[in-house]
Amino acid sequence: MTRKVNIAVIGTGRMGSVHVTNLVRQIPQANLVAICDIRLEVAQAVADELDIQRVVKDYHELLADPSIEAVLIATNTPTHPMIIKDAASAGKHIFCEKPLSLELDDMDEALAVVEKAGVKLQVGFNRRFDKSFQRVHQIVNSGEIGRPCILHIISRDPESPTMEYLRDCGGMFLDMTIHDFDMARFQIGEVDELYAIGNVLLTPQIIEFGDLDTTVVSLKFANGAIGTIDNSRQAVYGYDQRLEILCTDGAARVDNEAETTIQKGDRDGFHSAKLPYFFMQRYAPCYVEEVRQFVECVRDDKPTPVSGQDGRMAVVLGLAAWKSIREKRPVKISEFDRH
Ligand SMILES: NC(=O)c1ccc[n+]([C@@H]2O[C@H](COP(=O)([O-])OP(=O)(O)OC[C@H]3O[C@@H](n4cnc5c(N)ncnc54)[C@H](O)[C@@H]3O)[C@@H](O)[C@H]2O)c1
Repeated sequence: MTRKVNIAVIGTGRMGSVHVTNLVRQIPQANLVAICDIRLEVAQAVADELDIQRVVKDYHELLADPSIEAVLIATNTPTHPMIIKDAASAGKHIFCEKPLSLELDDMDEALAVVEKAGVKLQVGFNRRFDKSFQRVHQIVNSGEIGRPCILHIISRDPESPTMEYLRDCGGMFLDMTIHDFDMARFQIGEVDELYAIGNVLLTPQIIEFGDLDTTVVSLKFANGAIGTIDNSRQAVYGYDQRLEILCTDGAARVDNEAETTIQKGDRDGFHSAKLPYFFMQRYAPCYVEEVRQFVECVRDDKPTPVSGQDGRMAVVLGLAAWKSIREKRPVKISEFDRH
């Protein structure tokens, strides 16, 4: 039998608890040996439900354990660069939730430590593992419908996260659009320039910390294609996830996946099923698949499917979008080059 990879999860809140559950129930290639949260009671509740024996408050304890090969980081975003650096220095392979960081310097320092340590790093861009987006990627990249010309991404959440979450998540572009920036790169390639506009139309409380809840980003790609990303924190009809790429000889489109395909007819016409409520439902299989592939990369010593550089470029695009908002102008991605 092939060996299992010993892994630990750091941060067992909303996203971390999903990864813990998947590791225990759906990823037999992994052996989840411990979980950690600074709120010990949160981790303990997850451990009790899944019969996990080892629960710690301080992640350094896990990093000191030579039997643990890999860690999955699902802590609050501002802690990512520090935990990545500590984990890499301890020789652990790393799966880190998006975004890698909220700041370029911190992120580059962490990536340098990862490189020096020679450990693997995968970033949690779950949408790359969706079967529809993967099929579009194959079609567009094979050239069978010509060259890509226009990309449209519509990505709207059903409701805003809590104020507590919003306060330190990096704001719209680094927390939410970051997924769409990665999707744009995955489908079309590198972005050359972007221009962002936005407003606060839903949650006035976020004005105090300079966030936005309604945004459109236009993109110019290095290969000449252009695109838009349309984001809202509130689509009351459900989690709206659509994409279209117009190419010189055709188009590829992903529509929303309703909970069922039932159409109910009555005197008011036909009614279709609801959209999935949020990311947990829409992307449930992707969260399993991304971590399963990470574990297999560690086990078989293969490169990870979403690299540190992918994570870095998405953050750079997020920072460029904030710069575009502040300076009210198109921003070249080369403005973020390291000289
Ligand atoms: N890929 C996705 O679809 C997706 C969805 C939601 C959130 N996320 C990302 O996941 C991360 C966590 O988000 P969340 O919504 O689960 O937040 P959360 O607040 O629910 O959970 C974060 C947990 O980390 C713990 N924590 C913080 N610092 C710690 C430390 N130093 N050591 C151990 N534990 C620590 C907190 O106590 C908390 O329980 C964020 O970076 C977010 O961007 C990704």
